[in-house]
Parts: sequence; structure tokens; C-alpha cells
Amino acid sequence: PLIDRLFNAGENEVKLAKKLGIERTIIVPGNADLQDRVFEEMGEELNSALDLLLPLGHSIITVLGGAALAKAAKYLSSSLSNNRQLEFVPGRGALGENVATQSNTIVQEMAAKTNGSYKTLYLPEQVSEAAYKSLIREDTIADLLQDISQSDAVIHGIGLAQEMAQRRGYNSIKLSELREKHAVTECFGCFFDDKGKIVDRITQVGLQFENLKKIPHIFAFACGARKAEAIKAYMPNAPRQTWLITDEGASNKILKRK
Ligand code: G3H
Repeated sequence: PLIDRLFNAGENEVKLAKKLGIERTIIVPGNADLQDRVFEEMGEELNSALDLLLPLGHSIITVLGGAALAKAAKYLSSSLSNNRQLEFVPGRGALGENVATQSNTIVQEMAAKTNGSYKTLYLPEQVSEAAYKSLIREDTIADLLQDISQSDAVIHGIGLAQEMAQRRGYNSIKLSELREKHAVTECFGCFFDDKGKIVDRITQVGLQFENLKKIPHIFAFACGARKAEAIKAYMPNAPRQTWLITDEGASNKILKRK
């Protein structure tokens, strides 16, 4: 079964983890840019990895969202709930985009598939400094932020900077500013350049990038050759305990094999 496979990383999985400076990578066959079935296999691998690493009893999983996770969420399984009470919480508010790819939607789907529970965060993702300061004192939001800080695991996507900025409705001036700063990728509301430096950032209620390193298990979920540069740019910042779940499309490009 898949879980046995997790104890035996393949040669490319070891190489990729070493190159990216993280604990583990899981590479599924194919290229998600061309083959939708990749999401199914990645979802199953995520399920096995969670099963291997999550503690028994009450377990909190923070989910950031994105298209890749939205496609894979339905492959989590109810076996994850054997001896566990799973709670899924959104790591950010609603991006100005399709409801299907929002954290709020994905936590509901994951909870439904695993017989777990979920909480929601119905807020715009990006808020002003003033709104941020007062919102985090609201009881329901403070309660959710507390759960996020006590998460056993975080599952996040790795975005393409320009695409994420467009989804957030940036105007053309902001978009070209990002391009000038060589922003390649976006995770947790932070835009990183090709050297992994944060070059821009939005104020968002939810998981703050600085607090990520305190979370015991982190799953980065990104695939397809088009994501290779973004994965490479983000990873120098990833806490060591990160597991990358990806496909050959992205990994061959990062490892420079065609
Ligand atoms: O924050 C990054 C996004 O979740 C990227 O995800 O490209 O799978 O939509 P996506």
C-alpha cells in the first residue's frame, strides 16, 4: 500500500528533497499541465502522508487553498479518521476569485471526505491594517487564529506570482511593479523573487508566514511543469519539516531532466 511506499523514497524524491532543502518529496508520475489524473494520485499521496504523520486524537489541519488542492481534496479518505478527530480550518479568508478554490470550500470538502469537522473564515482575504487590527480581536476570529497556531499540519499551494496577483485583482501598475521586482511565486500572502526574497506582501487575516515554522507538519502541494520555477523560488524559505507533494512535470524541470 501507499503508506509502505512512504518509508522508501525513490532516487529522484531523495535528490529533489536535497536540492530543495526539505525533509521529503513525493513525486507522482505525469505532468498535471497535461493530465488531470495527477491530482488524484497526489490527493491519495497526501492522504497517506497525513495518515503517517498526524497524531492520534484531536488533530487540527490548516488548509490554504488554491486550484490544485481543490482538485485533490476529494481523494482524502475516511480512514484518516480512524482514532482521530480531524478539524480542518481555513488558513486565509476568501480570495477575490472562484468559490471552488477558496480555503473555506476546500476545508468543507476535506471534512466531508474524512468525516471530520471544519471551521470557516468568511472575510475578504486582503484587509487594511486598521481592519486587521480590529478583526483579530473578534471572538470567532480570535478563536480560529488560535486553532491555526495550534495546528498539527498545514497544507498549502504554491502560486505563480502574476497569476495570484491577477486573481486578487491587482491593476496593471501593481502587476508591472511585481514584474520589476522579479516576483516569481506567492505563498501565505508573500511574494518571493527568484532568489527567495520577500518582495511584496499583503495584509491578510490567517496564517502568518513567520509562524509557519512552528507547525509540526507542512505539506506543500504543487504540480505541473509550469510550477517548477515557483517551487524552486519558494523552497529556500520553506521550513525543513516541509514535505513537497508534486509530479514529474515539475520535478524533472527542477532537477533539469527533460
Ligand atoms: O497561494 C497559492 C495558491 O494556493 C496557489 O495554488 O496555483 O493551485 O491555485 P494554485
